Amino acid sequence: MVMHAKSLMHLLTSCTSNLRPHRPTSYSSLSFSRHSHTNTKTNASEWQGLPGWRRSRVNENRRWGVKGPEEAAELPLPTAHHKKNYENENENTCSSLAEWGALVLSTADPSHKARLSHYAYKQWCNGKIPIGATKPPEKPARPDKPELVSPKEIPSPKNSFLPHNAHILHNLAHIELNAIDLAWDTVVRFSTVSEVLGSQFFSDFAHVADDESRHFSWCLQRLGELGFRYGDMPAHNLLWRECQRTSGSVIARIAVIPMVQEARGLDAGPRLVQKLVGLGDNRTSNIVKRIAEEEIAHVAVGVSWFLTVCRKMGRMPDKTFTELLEELDVELKGPFNYAARTEAGMPRDWYDTSNLGTERCDNHLDMKNEKERMIAQACCDPHHFPISHEGSKTTNPDLSEVYERLACIVAMEKENSEL
Ligand SMILES: [Fe+2]
Ligand SMILES: [Fe+2]
Repeated sequence: MVMHAKSLMHLLTSCTSNLRPHRPTSYSSLSFSRHSHTNTKTNASEWQGLPGWRRSRVNENRRWGVKGPEEAAELPLPTAHHKKNYENENENTCSSLAEWGALVLSTADPSHKARLSHYAYKQWCNGKIPIGATKPPEKPARPDKPELVSPKEIPSPKNSFLPHNAHILHNLAHIELNAIDLAWDTVVRFSTVSEVLGSQFFSDFAHVADDESRHFSWCLQRLGELGFRYGDMPAHNLLWRECQRTSGSVIARIAVIPMVQEARGLDAGPRLVQKLVGLGDNRTSNIVKRIAEEEIAHVAVGVSWFLTVCRKMGRMPDKTFTELLEELDVELKGPFNYAARTEAGMPRDWYDTSNLGTERCDNHLDMKNEKERMIAQACCDPHHFPISHEGSKTTNPDLSEVYERLACIVAMEKENSEL
């Protein structure tokens, strides 16, 4: 279907208002029903492994051994700088999952951030802490290094003093570190509407954060084995910027982080593995292969919650996904890993516009009742979470902001297609 530019613009500008119903009178009396997540009017489906992933024991394989992941013999001792925090952990100064998430976000040291993530998730799985409610810091604490620069200032593998395999690994470590913060920000930011979303939502994203912390630990270990450290080359801040732009809406957050950013990881994974094999670094390629396999769960969690929230909002998932990406100026380009995306539950016509041939039906399903309408409001309420308009086509950013945003999009797509 070829859409006229004017119609497209109308769609872009009307999307936000469609997604922001009136403010509910109260969140406290609402609960989120736990029906099947499959919408009868969508061809999306849940990943078959999702129930098993949710039931799985806390994964303690945080080292990469000779044959693959293995349990760490002992946790690295905290540095003197973090000793106080370490002792505080044991004193349970954080009384809820949300508070733990905020602590992780406020922790700059990458190793400590990863270890705190794991500790927090274990506390949650052991049933020792409730979800709680708190606000996340404005931005996550980060170490002095790597220096955060614009994408064009990051040295290419040819211009980097790091060998190509270490260059790839450093980039991946940076993505995993960001992924820890992205997942915890989702837990903490939306903790104030936990009664609406239900505990499984927070359990899922805390689980994602724990997975990411394990991935980061493997990357860090392997970088060290190659003689390098995280911070040895500059990095960009694009991933966190995407997170900020979706801080006003849970459905936008789910669409952009797990279903766009994490899905890009599925696309890039096999190419990275092949590249590393070609470079003769089978150990790193095995780490990347395992990480890519585990990322399917994260995309699947996103699809599952996207379907759930859409159903509660009475919206068609496919069209809502498309509208959100258009409004947020997120453009998707291949090459796509169709098999992995399909396994994760993402129908091809949601992201591959070259495949579109049929008109979608009206996005607005009948709201079943007032309760569902109120849930929709709670999921996308601009008063509760003021929606960021950075880069939105509905605002009037100055030209430098527009340029910067475009540069970021181009850089992210370039990075994805060149990996
Ligand atoms: Fe990861
Ligand atoms: Fe992930």
